[in-house]
Amino acid sequence: MIEVKKISALDTYPVRLEVLRKNIPLPYQFNGDLDSDTFHLGVFKNNQLIAVSSYMKAENSNFKGSQYQLRGMATLSEYQGLGAGKLMMEKAVAILKEFHINCLWCNARVVAVPFYEKQGLKTFGDKFNIQYVGGHYVMYKYL
Ligand SMILES: CC(C)(COP(=O)(O)OP(=O)(O)OC[C@H]1O[C@@H](n2cnc3c(N)ncnc32)[C@H](O)[C@@H]1OP(=O)(O)O)[C@@H](O)C(=O)NCCC(=O)NCCS
Repeated sequence: MIEVKKISALDTYPVRLEVLRKNIPLPYQFNGDLDSDTFHLGVFKNNQLIAVSSYMKAENSNFKGSQYQLRGMATLSEYQGLGAGKLMMEKAVAILKEFHINCLWCNARVVAVPFYEKQGLKTFGDKFNIQYVGGHYVMYKYL
């Protein structure tokens, strides 16, 4: 059985490091991780943390209204495809709707674009490069 729960920033770091920062010299701690309006979600399978994601209040001038940015979406490779990412996105959208947030956006790795599209996000604008990580698109969803 898999379940999604709120977790601390600290809890996200091992999974971020393993999935998103292997051989990538970028920080695994993000500005805003500890802000009071930030929240972090984790998916547990048999009490093991297998996936994490973080949600921070951040305005992108391309979008309207109150906004949150999704960051650090990562599922351990051996657990990908089990629905953990989808579960976190659904929970995050439910929480953000309670907060009356209008828009969720992120900088999506090109390889993850089809995953986000399945969760109802759309790409905005042109592909851009983030050093060490590669091509990204801004993606967004009005809630
Ligand atoms: C992208 C990622 C977070 C998806 O997490 P996940 O837990 O494997 O996703 P889920 O199992 O919830 O998948 C949900 C749906 O998206 C699909 N999907 C997931 N990743 C996909 C991909 N890369 N391409 C196409 N479809 C994908 C699944 O098949 C599933 O489809 P279904 O609902 O029709 O069954 C995960 O693959 C990952 O951590 N990748 C490496 C790190 C990364 O790129 N993170 C994103 C940074 S922006």
